Amino acid sequence: MRKYNIFITRKLPEPALELLKQKCNIEINPHDRILTKEEIIQGLKDKDGLICLLTDSVDAEIIFSNPDLKVISNYAVGYNNIDIKAATKRKIPVTNTPGVLTETTADLTWALILSIARRIVEGDRFTREKKFKGWAPMFMLGTDVYGKTLGIVGMGRIGKAVAKRAFGFSMKICYYDHHRLSEEAEKKLNLTFISFHELLETSDFVSLHVPLNSNTYHLIGDKELSIMKRTSYLINTSRGEVIDEYALLKVLEVKGISGAGLDVFEKEPVITEGLLKLKNVILLPHIGSATIETRTKMAFIVAENLIAALEGKIPPDIINKEIYK
Ligand code: GLV
Ligand code: GLV
Repeated sequence: MRKYNIFITRKLPEPALELLKQKCNIEINPHDRILTKEEIIQGLKDKDGLICLLTDSVDAEIIFSNPDLKVISNYAVGYNNIDIKAATKRKIPVTNTPGVLTETTADLTWALILSIARRIVEGDRFTREKKFKGWAPMFMLGTDVYGKTLGIVGMGRIGKAVAKRAFGFSMKICYYDHHRLSEEAEKKLNLTFISFHELLETSDFVSLHVPLNSNTYHLIGDKELSIMKRTSYLINTSRGEVIDEYALLKVLEVKGISGAGLDVFEKEPVITEGLLKLKNVILLPHIGSATIETRTKMAFIVAENLIAALEGKIPPDIINKEIYK
């Protein structure tokens, strides 16, 4: 049996590579960096399949560069980095890794909520700088998390996993999504559906869990930030472009909101310069799904989807199903 030829844009966890090697000849980006477009086109030559990352912008030019390409398997749940329309036009299945990173990303969201509210990162820095002079009544006061109102924007898998964790903190949980859940699902998670405006107006913590698309680009800008409470916090573990980062900087500088916890940035890995100087923001290097367990599972999923498509089956995590009609 002929082995498939595939290109992988960055080294993945070893167990999944072993699985791939059983059926594929694999070529992997030899560098420890993101590839340029030209390098991806070069690597994709004469290949049957592509495994790519959220850091690769797989546009029409890349997709059309190889007429024999049979599958694009994205190592991420978000797939805004791929021109799905172009792939669909060429009838190339595109797949993602939903489900496996849900709980891991929800954990990180909570790490940000607790850390920004209780000034964990700031406190650690302070202590390392040997500035700690002893307990004091008014020293490094944060804000309570328990009993507060959590506003979740986007009630998909990750939004729900974040909501579940809020139960232990006795929080009031509001959500907004363009698709309202069933009454039963709302009851189970103790969720209150409210308008986006009302969510911004009443939440102590606003956490974003939407995919990036034309409807969610700059969902949070000047206007939305001005509606949020001065005592509130904004958390983003979705995609950077969902927030107008410059607008957020301006608001944080004048303490228009209390703070922000960000795992993603608009022009990743570049970060709006002023944010680096602020104390009331936590900046993480896009590590929402970054655990050994989850990254390994994600690698198996990209491998399984890729092999299924190459063997002519409908891959389990297909995004553009319509190509099979
Ligand atoms: C990570 O950000 C992902 O979309 O998987
Ligand atoms: C992603 O997995 C989501 O649906 O939230």
